[in-house]
Amino acid sequence: MKLLLIGFGTVGQGLAELLIEKADELKQEHGLDCTVVGISDMLKGSCYDPNGIDLEAALAKVEAGQALSTLTGGFEWDALEMIQKVDADVMCELTYTDIETGQPATDHIRAALAKGMSVTTTNKGPTALASRELMELAAANGARFLFEGTVMAGTPLLNLIRETLAGSEISEMQGILNGTTNFILTRMEGGMDYAAALTEAQELGYAEAVPDADVLGWDALAKVTILANTVFGASLEPDDSPCVGITEITPEQIEAAAADGKKYKLVGRVWRDGAKVRASVGPQLVDNSHPLAGVGGATNAMTITTDTLGDVTIVGPGAGRRETGFSLLIDLIHLGRS
Ligand code: HSE
Repeated sequence: MKLLLIGFGTVGQGLAELLIEKADELKQEHGLDCTVVGISDMLKGSCYDPNGIDLEAALAKVEAGQALSTLTGGFEWDALEMIQKVDADVMCELTYTDIETGQPATDHIRAALAKGMSVTTTNKGPTALASRELMELAAANGARFLFEGTVMAGTPLLNLIRETLAGSEISEMQGILNGTTNFILTRMEGGMDYAAALTEAQELGYAEAVPDADVLGWDALAKVTILANTVFGASLEPDDSPCVGITEITPEQIEAAAADGKKYKLVGRVWRDGAKVRASVGPQLVDNSHPLAGVGGATNAMTITTDTLGDVTIVGPGAGRRETGFSLLIDLIHLGRS
């Protein structure tokens, strides 16, 4: 399987590390022999080798702050040129998320799918704004569009729904979909102030490049929109749903909630309301006996209400280099099988 990596930041590097670490296992257990033939990154440069890029060398270049273009002889192709010129089976779209426009990632994905290249992405912009168009484009070109890592990183929520809960009817999903805000709220329960908790979340690499996307709820809004459109078959835009973040929650409110046996959680919710599908993001007081109350730190969780099993809750990481890199590995294994 020839891969093209568009974006080589934390997530792209996390994937590269896993491809190195698990190369033998992927071949032996899954019959999957992955070769990265091209990498293009807006800041780090581009490299291309039809026989396969040495990923250890690429990671070392980035670590040393050197341009990737020095690796394979001065290719300066930008992402779109790379997608157009390179022959690959799968494009991994790993550029930064722009939740408002979905760009430039949406154009990268369109270009790859139009060529018949399958796509896996962790980018929430295109998936929240254009999942239907991109899935149709994939189908029309004999390709696949997979996006496990857009919601709960490598914690296999979308696979759980698509594969393991197939045959169940889902009426509602609600959970903690943003690690940064859950981390901040957990730290505030321990007495830390908001600003110090946000700084710590940024230092640990949980927060988006612009932390407004986390603390104002937009990141969770993108995720509930992805779930509404891809699990419930809706056609929601992010702006269609109410969204409130955590910036107005005070230490006094958190203290009063604790005295009352409750916690504040930023809850993302999608549910059927008659023939309509609705979604929302906002702080909710949950009783300490509720499964979501026990989910602390940057951990995510989602409770899925089904007609067959009642409530099923999945808990796991929702961010992180290796954790998000793994989501791409799941998608690649699926693509290999199909
Ligand atoms: N900033 C996000 C979070 C990362 O804190 O959950 C994953 O989307």
